[in-house]
Amino acid sequence: MKRIGVLTGGGDAPGLNAVIRAVVKTAINDYGCEVMGCRDGYDGFLKPKGIVPLTHNVVRGILPRGGTILGTANRGNPFAQKIMVDGKETVVDVSHEIMRAIDAQKLDALIVIGGDGTLRIGMELHQKGVPVVGVPKTIDNDIGGTDVTFGFDTALTTATEALDKLHTTAESHHRVMVLELMGRDAGFICLHSGVAGGADVILIPEIPFKYECVAEKIRQRQARGSHFSILAVSEGAKPLDGDQVFWRQGNEVYVPRLGGIAQKVGDYVEKATGSETRVTVLGHLQRGGSPTAFDRWLATRYGSAAVRVAAEGAFGHMVALQYSKVVHIPFEEALAVPKRVDVHGDGVQTARSLGISFGDC
Ligand code: F6P
Repeated sequence: MKRIGVLTGGGDAPGLNAVIRAVVKTAINDYGCEVMGCRDGYDGFLKPKGIVPLTHNVVRGILPRGGTILGTANRGNPFAQKIMVDGKETVVDVSHEIMRAIDAQKLDALIVIGGDGTLRIGMELHQKGVPVVGVPKTIDNDIGGTDVTFGFDTALTTATEALDKLHTTAESHHRVMVLELMGRDAGFICLHSGVAGGADVILIPEIPFKYECVAEKIRQRQARGSHFSILAVSEGAKPLDGDQVFWRQGNEVYVPRLGGIAQKVGDYVEKATGSETRVTVLGHLQRGGSPTAFDRWLATRYGSAAVRVAAEGAFGHMVALQYSKVVHIPFEEALAVPKRVDVHGDGVQTARSLGISFGDC
């Protein structure tokens, strides 16, 4: 192995730089290998100056930094690239151009760090003969075959801090505070931070809720003398008799964006209980900032392992954490079924035992 490439794709997550740094250091120190960075996800292969050398100097000091020094893109799939033809947007397969660019770079391996979209593209490139190794990234923690993705712990910590802060103001004003959290169709950020941050109600996509059950929980608290409540609501949560809420539907240009369910819950609760209610959408704060120690540790292990997996020639595989060990599994296995909160698992059971409502009374 003489020359490897690395790229970051999809939404950013804290720990991306830690993976890049570990890839560069391991490749140079253990294999005497040259490392090339591809800018802005797969797009870098098609852009002038899209490929840059990564050396010890380039990665110095990036371990605690959020974001990604390589840039990223969460639109743009080389197998279905949107381009304008005669003023009309058209979808074309430009994967052969990427394949040509990878060939021209003489890469012995390409390490792709990303979520399901980026990894799926990696899998398809591998099926066409590109030597790809994947590293699972997402704050949503929704990738199969791995106990956890890096970025999740930092997002969860930010969400928990927000719940702690909402607690003090909720108590002072005798208010209901609703916090909307990211996660798409997976409720991990909401469940984990809801428990860690002492929420009274947790609404996650995996457990459809009833508005009235949420209001009833608040009334019960009022009856017990607790005149404030904290609600952690996942952006993908949906009522039993309704749909998820999107602030922007998808179209040819944009992927659909979830958002707005917390406001609906807040409006209902205020009317139904008479409690003054405020809604906060935590948004991209969950993706930013310095990674936690756990995410730095995990991201570093993943980056270093990905280089070893490439050296072994186990292409078409993704590194993963299983029972505290870093292993590697085929892309097909990781991407077969997206990971979701186990509604019968001990996390949900624990929350219920503590009296937390999932709005499904
Ligand atoms: O997948 C990560 C994530 O942050 C989701 O939790 C969220 O729904 C989405 O990305 C936001 O995407 P964007 O950055 O495009 O608004």
